[in-house]
Amino acid sequence: MSPTHSSTKGDGIDENTAFSDCPDAAVQAIKLQLSRLRAAKSICILTGAGISAESGIPTFRDKQTGLWENYRAEELANIAAFERDPKTVWSWYQWRRQLVQDKLPNPAHYALAQWQAWAGTQGQNIDLVTQNVDDLHETAGSEVIHLHGHLWQNKCSQCELTFEEDVDYANNELLRCEACAGYVRPNIVWFGEGLPQKEWQAAELAAKNCAVFISIGTSSLVYPAAGLAQLAKQHGAYIIEINLNPTQSAVVDSVLAGKAGEIIPALVAQLIT
Ligand code: OAD
Repeated sequence: MSPTHSSTKGDGIDENTAFSDCPDAAVQAIKLQLSRLRAAKSICILTGAGISAESGIPTFRDKQTGLWENYRAEELANIAAFERDPKTVWSWYQWRRQLVQDKLPNPAHYALAQWQAWAGTQGQNIDLVTQNVDDLHETAGSEVIHLHGHLWQNKCSQCELTFEEDVDYANNELLRCEACAGYVRPNIVWFGEGLPQKEWQAAELAAKNCAVFISIGTSSLVYPAAGLAQLAKQHGAYIIEINLNPTQSAVVDSVLAGKAGEIIPALVAQLIT
Protein backbone atom coordinates (compact mmCIF):
# COMPACT_ATOMS: atom_id res chain seq x y z
CA MET A 1 0.00 0.00 0.00
CA SER A 2 1.34 3.43 -0.83
CA PRO A 3 0.20 6.56 0.97
CA THR A 4 -3.22 7.74 -0.02
CA HIS A 5 -3.08 11.40 -0.85
CA SER A 6 -4.10 13.77 -3.55
CA SER A 7 -1.23 15.26 -5.50
CA THR A 8 -2.72 18.72 -5.79
CA LYS A 9 -2.84 20.97 -2.76
CA GLY A 10 -6.43 21.75 -1.92
CA ASP A 11 -7.91 18.71 -3.67
CA GLY A 12 -8.81 17.38 -0.27
CA ILE A 13 -8.23 13.91 1.05
CA ASP A 14 -10.39 11.10 2.17
CA GLU A 15 -9.24 11.20 5.76
CA ASN A 16 -10.79 7.85 6.58
CA THR A 17 -8.80 6.19 3.82
CA ALA A 18 -5.53 7.85 4.83
CA PHE A 19 -5.95 6.69 8.42
CA SER A 20 -7.58 3.37 7.67
CA ASP A 21 -4.71 1.18 8.96
CA CYS A 22 -3.74 3.43 11.84
CA PRO A 23 -4.59 2.79 15.53
CA ASP A 24 -7.01 5.43 16.93
CA ALA A 25 -4.53 6.77 19.46
CA ALA A 26 -1.96 7.22 16.70
CA VAL A 27 -4.46 9.10 14.53
CA GLN A 28 -4.97 11.64 17.30
CA ALA A 29 -1.23 11.85 17.96
CA ILE A 30 -0.51 12.42 14.25
CA LYS A 31 -3.02 15.26 14.08
CA LEU A 32 -1.26 17.00 16.96
CA GLN A 33 2.05 16.99 15.07
CA LEU A 34 0.93 18.26 11.67
CA SER A 35 1.39 22.00 12.16
CA ARG A 36 4.79 21.52 13.84
CA LEU A 37 5.98 19.31 10.98
CA ARG A 38 4.66 21.70 8.32
CA ALA A 39 6.40 24.66 9.95
CA ALA A 40 9.79 22.97 10.46
CA LYS A 41 12.46 24.27 8.08
CA SER A 42 14.56 21.20 8.66
CA ILE A 43 13.67 17.71 9.87
CA CYS A 44 16.07 14.90 10.71
CA ILE A 45 14.79 11.32 10.60
CA LEU A 46 16.70 8.36 12.05
CA THR A 47 15.53 4.89 11.09
CA GLY A 48 16.36 1.48 12.52
CA ALA A 49 15.52 -2.14 11.86
CA GLY A 50 11.84 -1.68 12.83
CA ILE A 51 11.12 0.21 9.61
CA SER A 52 12.10 -2.87 7.59
CA ALA A 53 10.26 -5.36 9.82
CA GLU A 54 7.12 -5.16 7.69
CA SER A 55 9.25 -5.95 4.63
CA GLY A 56 9.96 -9.30 6.30
CA ILE A 57 13.44 -8.52 7.65
CA PRO A 58 13.84 -9.49 11.32
CA THR A 59 14.98 -6.73 13.67
CA PHE A 60 18.24 -7.13 15.57
CA ARG A 61 16.67 -7.65 18.95
CA ASP A 62 14.07 -10.14 17.73
CA LYS A 63 14.95 -13.70 18.60
CA GLN A 64 16.81 -15.22 15.66
CA THR A 65 15.35 -18.17 13.79
CA GLY A 66 16.46 -21.39 12.10
CA LEU A 67 20.16 -22.20 12.13
CA TRP A 68 20.92 -19.07 14.11
CA GLU A 69 18.35 -19.33 16.90
CA ASN A 70 21.02 -19.92 19.55
CA TYR A 71 23.00 -16.81 18.62
CA ARG A 72 22.40 -13.17 19.48
CA ALA A 73 22.84 -10.72 16.61
CA GLU A 74 25.03 -8.44 18.75
CA GLU A 75 27.46 -11.31 19.27
CA LEU A 76 27.84 -11.82 15.52
CA ALA A 77 27.86 -8.20 14.27
CA ASN A 78 31.08 -7.80 16.13
CA ILE A 79 34.73 -7.30 15.17
CA ALA A 80 35.97 -9.51 18.01
CA ALA A 81 33.71 -12.34 16.84
CA PHE A 82 35.09 -12.09 13.28
CA GLU A 83 38.65 -12.12 14.52
CA ARG A 84 37.91 -15.17 16.67
CA ASP A 85 35.71 -17.09 14.24
CA PRO A 86 35.49 -15.50 10.76
CA LYS A 87 33.69 -18.48 9.22
CA THR A 88 30.71 -18.26 11.59
CA VAL A 89 30.34 -14.49 11.19
CA TRP A 90 30.72 -14.69 7.39
CA SER A 91 28.14 -17.52 7.24
CA TRP A 92 25.68 -15.46 9.28
CA TYR A 93 26.00 -12.54 6.88
CA GLN A 94 25.65 -14.84 3.87
CA TRP A 95 22.45 -16.14 5.49
CA ARG A 96 21.20 -12.59 6.12
CA ARG A 97 21.95 -11.69 2.51
CA GLN A 98 19.89 -14.65 1.34
CA LEU A 99 17.11 -13.57 3.69
CA VAL A 100 17.12 -9.93 2.55
CA GLN A 101 17.83 -10.24 -1.18
CA ASP A 102 14.21 -10.58 -2.32
CA LYS A 103 12.75 -8.16 0.24
CA LEU A 104 11.09 -4.97 -0.99
CA PRO A 105 10.44 -1.56 0.54
CA ASN A 106 7.17 -1.35 2.47
CA PRO A 107 4.72 1.58 2.68
CA ALA A 108 6.85 3.26 5.37
CA HIS A 109 9.90 3.44 3.07
CA TYR A 110 7.80 4.71 0.17
CA ALA A 111 6.00 7.31 2.26
CA LEU A 112 9.30 8.72 3.58
CA ALA A 113 10.66 8.95 0.02
CA GLN A 114 7.52 10.72 -1.10
CA TRP A 115 7.67 13.15 1.83
CA GLN A 116 11.36 13.87 1.30
CA ALA A 117 10.82 14.66 -2.39
CA TRP A 118 7.74 16.77 -1.69
CA ALA A 119 9.44 18.68 1.13
CA GLY A 120 12.20 19.68 -1.31
CA THR A 121 9.60 21.41 -3.48
CA GLN A 122 8.34 23.35 -0.42
CA GLY A 123 11.72 24.68 0.73
CA GLN A 124 11.81 22.20 3.60
CA ASN A 125 14.82 19.97 4.18
CA ILE A 126 14.50 16.36 5.34
CA ASP A 127 17.70 14.53 6.21
CA LEU A 128 17.15 10.79 6.39
CA VAL A 129 19.76 8.90 8.41
CA THR A 130 19.63 5.12 8.72
CA GLN A 131 21.27 2.43 10.79
CA ASN A 132 19.97 -0.18 8.36
CA VAL A 133 22.19 -1.91 5.83
CA ASP A 134 19.41 -3.25 3.59
CA ASP A 135 19.29 -0.30 1.14
CA LEU A 136 15.45 -0.33 1.10
CA HIS A 137 15.31 3.46 1.56
CA GLU A 138 17.22 3.97 -1.69
CA THR A 139 15.12 1.37 -3.47
CA ALA A 140 12.05 3.37 -2.43
CA GLY A 141 13.64 6.55 -3.84
CA SER A 142 15.06 8.34 -0.77
CA GLU A 143 18.35 10.08 -0.37
CA VAL A 144 19.86 8.57 2.74
CA ILE A 145 22.90 8.81 5.00
CA HIS A 146 24.13 5.32 5.96
CA LEU A 147 25.73 5.10 9.39
CA HIS A 148 26.32 1.34 9.51
CA GLY A 149 27.41 0.51 5.94
CA HIS A 150 25.90 -1.73 3.27
CA LEU A 151 24.93 -5.38 3.40
CA TRP A 152 25.77 -5.97 -0.25
CA GLN A 153 29.33 -4.62 -0.19
CA ASN A 154 32.45 -6.43 0.99
CA LYS A 155 35.86 -5.24 2.04
CA CYS A 156 39.14 -6.78 3.03
CA SER A 157 39.47 -7.18 6.80
CA GLN A 158 43.15 -6.23 6.56
CA CYS A 159 43.79 -3.68 3.79
CA GLU A 160 40.14 -2.40 3.62
CA LEU A 161 40.02 -2.70 -0.20
CA THR A 162 36.31 -2.69 -1.08
CA PHE A 163 34.69 -5.21 -3.40
CA GLU A 164 31.62 -4.36 -5.42
CA GLU A 165 31.26 -7.62 -7.35
CA ASP A 166 28.54 -10.12 -6.45
CA VAL A 167 29.35 -13.08 -4.29
CA ASP A 168 27.35 -16.28 -4.21
CA TYR A 169 25.28 -15.93 -1.02
CA ALA A 170 24.73 -19.68 -0.85
CA ASN A 171 28.48 -20.30 -0.48
CA ASN A 172 29.79 -19.97 3.08
CA GLU A 173 33.45 -20.50 2.22
CA LEU A 174 35.63 -17.61 3.33
CA LEU A 175 37.03 -15.44 0.54
CA ARG A 176 40.52 -13.95 0.45
CA CYS A 177 41.48 -10.47 -0.70
CA GLU A 178 43.23 -10.50 -4.08
CA ALA A 179 45.65 -7.78 -2.95
CA CYS A 180 46.79 -8.95 0.50
CA ALA A 181 45.11 -12.36 1.11
CA GLY A 182 43.22 -11.04 4.16
CA TYR A 183 39.75 -12.40 4.79
CA VAL A 184 36.91 -10.68 2.97
CA ARG A 185 34.14 -9.37 5.25
CA PRO A 186 30.92 -7.38 4.80
CA ASN A 187 31.39 -3.61 4.54
CA ILE A 188 29.31 -3.07 7.65
CA VAL A 189 30.16 -1.21 10.85
CA TRP A 190 30.41 -3.70 13.69
CA PHE A 191 30.39 -3.29 17.45
CA GLY A 192 33.87 -2.21 18.40
CA GLU A 193 34.39 -0.15 15.21
CA GLY A 194 34.03 3.53 14.37
CA LEU A 195 31.34 4.95 12.09
CA PRO A 196 32.29 6.28 8.63
CA GLN A 197 33.49 9.83 9.29
CA LYS A 198 31.79 11.70 6.45
CA GLU A 199 28.41 10.07 7.13
CA TRP A 200 28.65 10.64 10.87
CA GLN A 201 29.51 14.31 10.40
CA ALA A 202 26.54 14.73 8.05
CA ALA A 203 24.24 13.03 10.58
CA GLU A 204 25.50 15.20 13.45
CA LEU A 205 24.98 18.34 11.38
CA ALA A 206 21.45 17.25 10.47
CA ALA A 207 20.64 16.55 14.13
CA LYS A 208 22.05 19.89 15.28
CA ASN A 209 20.18 21.89 12.64
CA CYS A 210 16.75 20.29 12.71
CA ALA A 211 13.63 21.72 14.31
CA VAL A 212 12.10 18.25 14.60
CA PHE A 213 13.91 14.94 15.02
CA ILE A 214 11.97 11.74 14.28
CA SER A 215 13.24 8.39 15.48
CA ILE A 216 11.59 5.47 13.67
CA GLY A 217 11.79 1.75 14.48
CA THR A 218 14.93 1.83 16.55
CA SER A 219 15.50 0.55 20.08
CA SER A 220 17.84 3.55 20.60
CA LEU A 221 20.29 1.28 22.41
CA VAL A 222 23.23 1.45 20.03
CA TYR A 223 25.54 4.45 20.20
CA PRO A 224 26.66 6.69 18.67
CA ALA A 225 23.51 6.61 16.47
CA ALA A 226 21.22 6.66 19.51
CA GLY A 227 22.94 9.87 20.68
CA LEU A 228 21.64 11.82 17.67
CA ALA A 229 18.26 12.37 19.36
CA GLN A 230 20.01 13.76 22.43
CA LEU A 231 22.16 16.01 20.26
CA ALA A 232 19.08 17.31 18.45
CA LYS A 233 17.34 17.93 21.77
CA GLN A 234 20.34 19.86 23.12
CA HIS A 235 20.07 22.11 20.07
CA GLY A 236 16.40 22.80 20.65
CA ALA A 237 14.68 20.20 18.47
CA TYR A 238 11.35 18.59 19.27
CA ILE A 239 11.71 14.79 19.38
CA ILE A 240 9.10 12.39 18.00
CA GLU A 241 9.35 8.61 18.23
CA ILE A 242 7.49 6.17 15.96
CA ASN A 243 7.76 2.65 17.33
CA LEU A 244 5.64 -0.47 17.73
CA ASN A 245 6.93 -0.78 21.30
CA PRO A 246 7.99 2.73 22.34
CA THR A 247 11.34 2.96 24.09
CA GLN A 248 10.53 5.23 27.07
CA SER A 249 13.51 7.36 26.09
CA ALA A 250 13.71 10.46 28.27
CA VAL A 251 14.47 12.77 25.33
CA VAL A 252 11.26 11.94 23.43
CA ASP A 253 8.58 14.64 23.48
CA SER A 254 5.88 12.76 21.60
CA VAL A 255 5.26 9.12 20.73
CA LEU A 256 3.36 7.72 17.76
CA ALA A 257 2.89 4.12 18.84
CA GLY A 258 2.25 1.54 16.15
CA LYS A 259 3.68 -0.03 13.02
CA ALA A 260 5.83 2.23 10.89
CA GLY A 261 4.06 0.89 7.78
CA GLU A 262 0.75 2.19 9.11
CA ILE A 263 1.76 5.39 10.93
CA ILE A 264 4.12 6.93 8.38
CA PRO A 265 1.86 6.63 5.30
CA ALA A 266 -1.00 8.14 7.33
CA LEU A 267 1.22 10.96 8.60
CA VAL A 268 2.62 11.74 5.17
CA ALA A 269 -0.78 11.60 3.52
CA GLN A 270 -1.99 14.27 5.95
CA LEU A 271 1.10 16.41 5.52
CA ILE A 272 1.29 16.57 1.77
CA THR A 273 -2.33 17.13 0.85
P1 OAD B 1 16.58 -3.14 17.11
O1 OAD B 1 16.32 -4.54 16.70
O2 OAD B 1 17.43 -2.91 18.30
O3 OAD B 1 15.20 -2.40 17.41
C1 OAD B 1 14.13 -2.45 16.51
C2 OAD B 1 13.07 -1.52 17.01
O4 OAD B 1 12.02 -1.52 16.06
C3 OAD B 1 12.43 -1.94 18.36
O5 OAD B 1 12.37 -0.81 19.21
C4 OAD B 1 11.03 -2.40 17.96
O6 OAD B 1 10.06 -2.10 18.98
C5 OAD B 1 10.78 -1.58 16.72
N1 OAD B 1 9.82 -2.18 15.76
C6 OAD B 1 9.67 -3.47 15.41
N2 OAD B 1 8.76 -3.61 14.44
C7 OAD B 1 8.33 -2.36 14.14
C8 OAD B 1 7.38 -1.82 13.21
N3 OAD B 1 6.70 -2.60 12.37
N4 OAD B 1 7.19 -0.49 13.19
C9 OAD B 1 7.87 0.33 14.05
N5 OAD B 1 8.75 -0.12 14.95
C10 OAD B 1 9.00 -1.43 15.00
O7 OAD B 1 17.14 -2.40 15.82
P2 OAD B 1 18.02 -1.08 15.73
O8 OAD B 1 17.61 -0.10 16.75
O9 OAD B 1 18.02 -0.67 14.31
O10 OAD B 1 24.06 -2.42 14.32
O11 OAD B 1 19.45 -1.63 16.09
C11 OAD B 1 20.52 -0.73 16.06
C12 OAD B 1 21.77 -1.43 15.60
O12 OAD B 1 22.02 -2.56 16.44
C13 OAD B 1 21.72 -2.01 14.22
O13 OAD B 1 22.00 -1.07 13.21
C14 OAD B 1 22.76 -3.06 14.27
C15 OAD B 1 22.38 -3.68 15.59
O14 OAD B 1 23.28 -4.45 16.19
C16 OAD B 1 25.11 -3.04 13.79
O15 OAD B 1 25.03 -4.09 13.19
C17 OAD B 1 26.37 -2.30 14.01
